[in-house]
Amino acid sequence: MKGVILAGGLGTRLHPLTKVTNKHLLPVCNKPMIYYPIEALVSSGVEEILIVTGGNKAGDFLQLLGNGSEFGLKHLNYTYQKGEGGIAEALSLAEHWCGNDRLCVILGDNILENSIAPYVDEFRKQDRGARILLKEVEDPERFGVAELNGDKVVRIEEKPKNPRSNLAVIGVYFFDSHVFDIIKTLEPSGRGELEITDVNNAYIREGTMRASRLTGWWTDAGTFSSLLRASNLVAQGGANKMQSSTKK
Ligand code: G1P
Repeated sequence: MKGVILAGGLGTRLHPLTKVTNKHLLPVCNKPMIYYPIEALVSSGVEEILIVTGGNKAGDFLQLLGNGSEFGLKHLNYTYQKGEGGIAEALSLAEHWCGNDRLCVILGDNILENSIAPYVDEFRKQDRGARILLKEVEDPERFGVAELNGDKVVRIEEKPKNPRSNLAVIGVYFFDSHVFDIIKTLEPSGRGELEITDVNNAYIREGTMRASRLTGWWTDAGTFSSLLRASNLVAQGGANKMQSSTKK
């Protein structure tokens, strides 16, 4: 399985912090934001990684990450998204690199408490299609929201005004290589972007979408309040780890 980290965009919700730099280079607690998705992939055994960047200071990723030796990698791959065409458009840039492999896609501003290794394993066992991860949240209207019928996801709505559930679709997605054919059929949404939610709904219509409930906390970090929450959660996690290692 290959890993794709989507780290483009103009980060306008974080102006002026992102006026001269890329959102994913901003600090979350003691590390640049982009470190977290890289660590999530590498610690789950996904070591072939493509970073899709764009917007401001894209070259700074190379200076910061190089070939990924800090993460135990021999090589990192990079590509560049012009403008703000959306998450699905950013993902389409991975097509030539991905070939027929399966993908774990992580949005570069998503930070998780626990390892994603169990979901990587689940998707390896799945014969085809896609898998999303769901988490109960207090503010579902900020996210893609899943509508369930029993265990089955029947529909996802992007940032609905009146959410039908409190289950957010988090920014970790598993796709087979059919995803690139799906992206080619998409039309831009009201905000002028190719939406990842439209990709997921196409898999739901095909009947090949599966979902897992995420354990542990998760947050995005694309607004001032979520950026602060991300730092606090990571700091708190670190403090808890220190406490438990002192207790031992
Ligand atoms: C994106 C997706 C949304 C998802 C969220 C997770 O939203 O469009 O479906 O729930 O990431 O972080 P964005 O933050 O790009 O507005």
